[in-house]
Amino acid sequence: MESKITKIKEELEKALEKAEKEADILNIKSDYVGKKSEIQGMLASLKDMSVDDKRKYGSLINNTKKEMEELINKKLEDINNKVNITFDDTTLYEIEKGSLHPVSIVAREVTDILKRMGFTVVSGPEMETEYYNFEALNIPEDHPARDMQDTYYLDNGMLLRTQTSGVQVRSMEKYGAPLRICVPGRVFRNEDLDANHENTFFQMEGMVIDKNISIGNLMYVMQSVLREVLKSDVNVRIRPGFFPFTEPSFEIDCSCTICGGKGCPTCKNSGWIEIIPGGMVHPNVLKAGGIDPDVYTGFAFGIGLTRLAMMKYKINDIRVLNSGDIRYLEQFNI
Ligand code: DAH
Repeated sequence: MESKITKIKEELEKALEKAEKEADILNIKSDYVGKKSEIQGMLASLKDMSVDDKRKYGSLINNTKKEMEELINKKLEDINNKVNITFDDTTLYEIEKGSLHPVSIVAREVTDILKRMGFTVVSGPEMETEYYNFEALNIPEDHPARDMQDTYYLDNGMLLRTQTSGVQVRSMEKYGAPLRICVPGRVFRNEDLDANHENTFFQMEGMVIDKNISIGNLMYVMQSVLREVLKSDVNVRIRPGFFPFTEPSFEIDCSCTICGGKGCPTCKNSGWIEIIPGGMVHPNVLKAGGIDPDVYTGFAFGIGLTRLAMMKYKINDIRVLNSGDIRYLEQFNI
């Protein structure tokens, strides 16, 4: 009896080895463990055996049957897995997974934070008029503040916007007050390129106009953005700044994440990076947008999204961001 059982199991193993298709295995299954199989016959014969034999062979036959079923199921599984692989589009394995650009990641993060605070996302043209880019922002033609932004003027009399701030007056004209907008966008300046300057970079303009808006509101928004995007990795400082379209104006700096605040070429050895300029909207700008400065006040800011991405991901040279160098960008595969 024992040798007979061992033989059946061995035969099954051989048969399974040869089987290539699911149908073959199902046939084997019915031959070896099905109703009319030899082992099933042995189980049926147990009832005619003596109590001792029953005890002896009962568990042997049952266990062997179980083992045989396991072998069959395992083979079925193997074959099914193989089928899946051939079924798969194998070219998929050669396609590299794309990822968002670091600036896009940061832009989305900041947009999400601002949206939660009730900001509406708006956009404006990259080819802008002098009026919206400068004049409406309290920077008349001969104002020295124009020197702060070396501009690409176009043959058609327009310019490539140097700042997303141009959307401030456009939005006030369109939506009036109260207003709560943010504007992620690309801006252009005729810069000498270095680790910290590019001719094309990204900003996130923000503007809130309402009754009783204060510097405290501005600080809260700025702090929330920095805290959430950079986590607690950085120190933040605020200092006075100058922009013709805000009064008072501020610069919010964060400690340079690349050198940890010790000083490096990216932060011009100062240990700090200017990251969010902003201030209380100048009455002339409110007037340009058709809003009465005696009734409404507001704050505005222009987050340097490119710089924020550099600080978040510790990128020490701004130029790689526009380089299209996949080796660099694929590190942000999230
Ligand atoms: N547009 C300014 C720049 O590009 C940044 C800025 C400063 C934006 C103050 C603002 C602001 O909205 O209030 O340098």
